Amino acid sequence: MNGNGVLGTSLRTGRGGALRAADAGTVVRLGGWVHRVRNLGGIVFMDLRDIGGIIQVSFGTDWASAEAIAAAAAVGVESVVRVEGTVAVRSAETRNAEMATGEVEVRAVRVEVVGPAVTPAIPVARARGEKLAAEELRLRHRHLDLRRPELQANLVLRHRLMQATRRFLSAHGFLEIETPILTKPTPEGARDYLVPSRVHPGEFYALPQSPQIYKQLLMVSGFDRYFQIARCFRDEDLRADRQPEFTQIDVEASFVGEDDIISLAEGLVGELWREAKIEVTARFRRITYADSMERYGCDRPDLRFGLEIADWTDAFRPLDFNVTKAAIAAGGRVRGMVLPGAAEWSRRDVDSIEAIAKDAGAAGLLRLKRSAGVLEGPLAKFAGGAATFDAVPDGALALFVAGPDRISSPALDRVRQECARRLGMVDEGRREFAIVTDFPMFERDAATGALAAVHHPFTSPDLLDVAARPDAPHTWRARAYDVVLNGMELGGGSIRTHDPALQARVLALLGIADPAEQERRFGFLLEALRAGAPPHGGIAFGLDRIAMLLANAASLRDVIAFPKTTAARALFEDAPTHIPADELRELHIGPTGAAQGREGSA
Ligand code: AMO
Repeated sequence: MNGNGVLGTSLRTGRGGALRAADAGTVVRLGGWVHRVRNLGGIVFMDLRDIGGIIQVSFGTDWASAEAIAAAAAVGVESVVRVEGTVAVRSAETRNAEMATGEVEVRAVRVEVVGPAVTPAIPVARARGEKLAAEELRLRHRHLDLRRPELQANLVLRHRLMQATRRFLSAHGFLEIETPILTKPTPEGARDYLVPSRVHPGEFYALPQSPQIYKQLLMVSGFDRYFQIARCFRDEDLRADRQPEFTQIDVEASFVGEDDIISLAEGLVGELWREAKIEVTARFRRITYADSMERYGCDRPDLRFGLEIADWTDAFRPLDFNVTKAAIAAGGRVRGMVLPGAAEWSRRDVDSIEAIAKDAGAAGLLRLKRSAGVLEGPLAKFAGGAATFDAVPDGALALFVAGPDRISSPALDRVRQECARRLGMVDEGRREFAIVTDFPMFERDAATGALAAVHHPFTSPDLLDVAARPDAPHTWRARAYDVVLNGMELGGGSIRTHDPALQARVLALLGIADPAEQERRFGFLLEALRAGAPPHGGIAFGLDRIAMLLANAASLRDVIAFPKTTAARALFEDAPTHIPADELRELHIGPTGAAQGREGSA
């Protein structure tokens, strides 16, 4: 039987969904879920579904007994049945080109209900055009929703991506090594999920935000090339492309520089996209962080369209216009973009774009358009004579934000994306991979002025920057890189600090200056670096994000078997839950959730 050899068991000959014309004449015993039943009087058609697909099983008077036909007609949908029959090629007019099994059917002589189903809470089979049930309902009844062929196909693809990852990395000498789930806080910028220890009152494990420190320890131990398909846990505000529990393709290698990791990343991405039957350019566009912020206002640029942001400060400088004069005098700039053909947009259209800019933190959006050769808009009377605005061609609208870059960049990023969408410039079929390099090492907290790591504290700063400006760490670049596709971050990594003295210095700059505190929190890493550490670096890709893109799924939840909601709840198993007081006491946690510590637990 086609592809079914190893799938045969004592209860079935194989998967019905795998049957093809070549199997005609074979006697089969199948097991599966009843997708639909159609009773046409003399003949009953049952669509039988398994993970391989759907096969039509027919019960006709020419081959089945009256009892078998009656039994087939009476089976409820989503029940599990076993059927026995012979594979037959359908007549030309009854073939179904939309089904992989559409050339054949099973002419059944027997049906047995082995797992009767109550009426399903949500439909699995849908009529053409019938909408899905509400997502909350589907997540609550995940065992039924996962019966949908679309979700099954997504998880099959995810499996294939994991296998392709293992194949590719193993072939490149990488070893798959597991690292602990019960561990110590690892700073990746989110909050930790904590697990109380029963045997050590008042002490907690943290679930890993990533295997970052462990993979570095493996390099110190000489494993040289490591990978893991690793579960990571981050207690952070959730968005559509984030889950509290997610999976990374995590990679680390010794004796490497940026280019080595980047070409490995290009190779792996190429392999994964090919697994999904999509050829992609082998080399990704490189862009520095500074360039990306300047031209696109963000560090994960969507390069499917232009609409680049430009610096218009010099054009505005001579104008006697208060808003831009004040911004420039305060050290800010006027940046903006030209939208060809958008001069005809209504005032309301542009107001709605201004609302987006304001939502992103800008005070407003300045506008200037040229219609029939003449500049128009509230700015026009100031700009009319300025030849510098010649760069706004006829029929175009130009939008500007005045102020410091930290305000104008995020606003113009959002404006750029929205305008591209409205101008129909976003080609959904196009894939523009980019590698963003030369991130800053630190960012300053606006309120406290304290430095925080942009990537993570184990990323190496650019050693030339450290040597040239030892006392200006906020100007150091990091040896970090992100892989971006169409505006989404797929992965990120860096070359690490392997010099223990520099690592201690970076920790001190991050506010962990006390050597005792350094030892308590990062002693195991510092000690390892002092034991003879090779230069090393790596990267981690978000497997869920990659699977979502390749499955063309609308949400990460559609490529994770049992996902959480955006409120970080598991609706199917109903987690998190309240824990009875006596169990909490055993974990040395008070009824209010406060840890009791050593003193509290007699
Ligand atoms: P980073 O924090 O950039 O790097 O994570 C790497 C990739 O993981 C994915 N990702 C997520 N996917 C789903 N839900 C989330 N909440 C989530 N958070 C991150 C993204 C991201 O690009 N240890 C470093 C890697 C390294 O330096 O080697 C790290 O974890 O696709």
